[in-house]
Amino acid sequence: MATIYYTATSLDGYLATTDHSLDWLFEVPGAAEAESGIGDFMAGIGALVMGSSTYDWLLEVEKPHEKPGAWQESFGERPSWVFTHRDLPAVPHADIRFTQAPVDQVHAEMTAAAGDRDIWLMGGGDLVGQFDDAGLLDRVMVSIAPVTLGAGAPLLPRDIRSDRLTLTGVSQVGQFAELSYDVKPKAAT
Ligand SMILES: NC(=O)c1ccc[n+]([C@@H]2O[C@H](COP(=O)([O-])OP(=O)(O)OC[C@H]3O[C@@H](n4cnc5c(N)ncnc54)[C@H](OP(=O)(O)O)[C@@H]3O)[C@@H](O)[C@H]2O)c1
Repeated sequence: MATIYYTATSLDGYLATTDHSLDWLFEVPGAAEAESGIGDFMAGIGALVMGSSTYDWLLEVEKPHEKPGAWQESFGERPSWVFTHRDLPAVPHADIRFTQAPVDQVHAEMTAAAGDRDIWLMGGGDLVGQFDDAGLLDRVMVSIAPVTLGAGAPLLPRDIRSDRLTLTGVSQVGQFAELSYDVKPKAAT
């Protein structure tokens, strides 16, 4: 069982523009085909977690709270945690748990729920950084788009040096470069 940060990113290390747009990602030629490879990854996932901006984006763009079954189409019945200090709209019939508990406590709940499957850290970058701060990040898998944004939501705003990162996979999927790194968990701070 591993805790994996899996995301697409711009070449200069942003998850989204400053106004949380992902248009730059979906307009890459062949993006839809590249995204279809997520099925294999999802098969190994037992629980997922995201921050509230990522959840806001999902609600705004995919409208799962208005379209029955849309959440399940993306995530199946996997339990999902959303970190927030706000009251956010729920998605009917989806197992979504809003939390502001310490990440190690949430990670323990996720581990219990995921069984022998992996945990997907969807982002954003600082939330993933909080898991790393707690010594709970095992792998980073990035799909790099042929785009620079200059500014935006950062991929992983932490100081993680090469003594903690081992490149384990490199592949090309259309216009995307996919890199996998094993992460040596840091001693919790
Ligand atoms: N390129 C991709 O494939 C990809 C993947 C993931 C995300 N994204 C996009 O990247 C952007 C990420 O946005 P972001 O950097 O703002 O990150 P985010 O993690 O999605 O959201 C950050 C927010 O989560 C809440 N939060 C974080 N840690 C918390 C904690 N410990 N306790 C309670 N609440 C906590 C806070 O909001 P509250 O005000 O609610 O407390 C915080 O402002 C989004 O636009 C998303 O759609 C893109």
